[in-house]
Formats: sequence, C-alpha cells, structure tokens
Amino acid sequence: MIMILIGPPGSGKGTQAQRLEQRLGAVHLSTGNLLRDEIAAKSSLGKTAETFMNSGQLVPDQIAVEVVAEHMKRGEPDTDYILDGFPRTTNQAEELDRILEERGLEVGTVVEIHTNDEVLMERLTGRFACANCGEGYHKSFKRPKSDGVCDKCGGVEFEVRSDDREETIRDRLGVYHSETAPILPYYAKKGLLVRVDGEKAMGDVTKEIETILIDGR
Ligand code: AP5
Repeated sequence: MIMILIGPPGSGKGTQAQRLEQRLGAVHLSTGNLLRDEIAAKSSLGKTAETFMNSGQLVPDQIAVEVVAEHMKRGEPDTDYILDGFPRTTNQAEELDRILEERGLEVGTVVEIHTNDEVLMERLTGRFACANCGEGYHKSFKRPKSDGVCDKCGGVEFEVRSDDREETIRDRLGVYHSETAPILPYYAKKGLLVRVDGEKAMGDVTKEIETILIDGR
C-alpha cells in the first residue's frame, strides 16, 4: 500500500503519519525529515536544501525525488509507505509514478488534509519538538503530560523548527497554494483522491483516514 498525505504546512500530515504507521504496519516517509537529516549531517545535498527550506521555498524537484528514490531503494520491495510531504509538484507526482512502476507498485490512496490558513498559523507558531527523539508537541493542543519533560523519551530539551517563523510560514502557505494544491486534480482524475477535514480533533482525523482505508479507497 502506498498512501500519500497532502496538505498545507501544519495541516497534520506528520501527526497523522506518526499515528497511522504503527496501526498500518507502514513506513512513514517524510521528505521534510529526510532533508533535515541531510542538513544535520552537513551533506552537500543538505547544504543546498537548507537555503530553500529556510526561506520557505520548495527544494528543487531533482533533490526531493533523489531522497525518496534512495530511501525506497534501501527498503524491502513490498514495504508499505505513508508519504508525508511528497509529491509536492506535478513533476514529482509523475516521477513518483515512475519510481513505483519500476518496483511493480502504484499509488493506492491520496488523502488531502484540508485546513484553513488561519488555523495553520496558530498551529505552526505553537509547535515544538523533543530535541532528543523528535516527538512533536504544541503549546495549546498537545503539551507534554509533565511540563518540560518529553512523554516519549524523558528528554528535557525542546526545539522549534527554523522555518516556523511567521513570515516564513506565510511563504510556505503561498507555495502550497501555488505549487502543491495544483497536483490534487492529477490524483482526482485517477479516482484516488479523498478529502478529510483537518480542523477536527487529531483522533477524529485519524479515524476518518482509517475508515477511508477500510472502505478500500
Ligand atoms: P515539511 O517538513 O514537509 O513541512 P510542511 O509541509 O511545511 O509541513 P509541516 O511539517 O510544517 O506540517 P504538518 O502538516 O506535518 O503538520 P504537523 O503534523 O507537524 O517540509 C519542510 C520544507 O522541506 C518545505 O518547506 C520544503 O522546503 C522542503 N520539502 C519537503 N518536502 C519537499 C518536496 N517534496 N519537494 C520540495 N521541497 C520539499 O502539525 C503541526 C502542529 O499542529 C503540531 O504542533 C501538531 O501537534 C498540531 N496539530 C496537528 N493536527 C492537529 C489537529 N487536528 N488539531 C490540533 N492541532 C493539530
């Protein structure tokens, strides 16, 4: 099964992918996380990607496609994937079809997590994560059970993403509407696209996606 989560920054792609990966026995593949790993490793790919990411722009298609293709090559051929943040342009969508075809696979379901921009700004300016294990939190919607201590690993250091500044968030939202939203018709034409309401509570969004998968879409 190859499932794609598409939605604007802050719509909950990462949150939902984390919640679904264990339940579905699938691998969560986030291009944003893979690129941040490259930046942390100070690779040449990471250095190129960093400039684009810090200014809220998409990295060139060739880089995004390369990280996905490399990651998939290392996995077992029958691995199930939840793709979070890829594809983000029509060119990437076509490249994904090509990568999957080589492996005898195809996209199964594309879930658009629809959320209005005002809600997203509040979510992204309140987001932080454990610096040790990466578990995500929010200052209003998802606080650690014990203040200042990560629920998952007990870490006490937290970090805020460098692209979660208000001005950069506006740029990221603009890029979503101009470059990523136009790929929705590509999947609608293939009969693969379903939309969920990303403004519902996290658990309700998860249930809605699970229902879609059980219904075989
Ligand atoms: P990426 O890391 O993919 O970031 P993004 O798309 O901007 O999405 P986010 O991770 O910010 O949000 P999300 O939808 O995952 O929401 P989350 O679950 O965290 O990409 C970063 C950059 O990398 C891009 O700008 C680009 O430069 C580059 N890049 C990546 N992929 C690329 C590609 N394919 N091509 C080119 N460039 C690429 O939730 C956000 C917050 O809201 C959290 O605090 C969460 O707790 C909270 N929350 C989530 N759901 C709910 C809910 N239902 N109710 C209340 N709160 C909620």
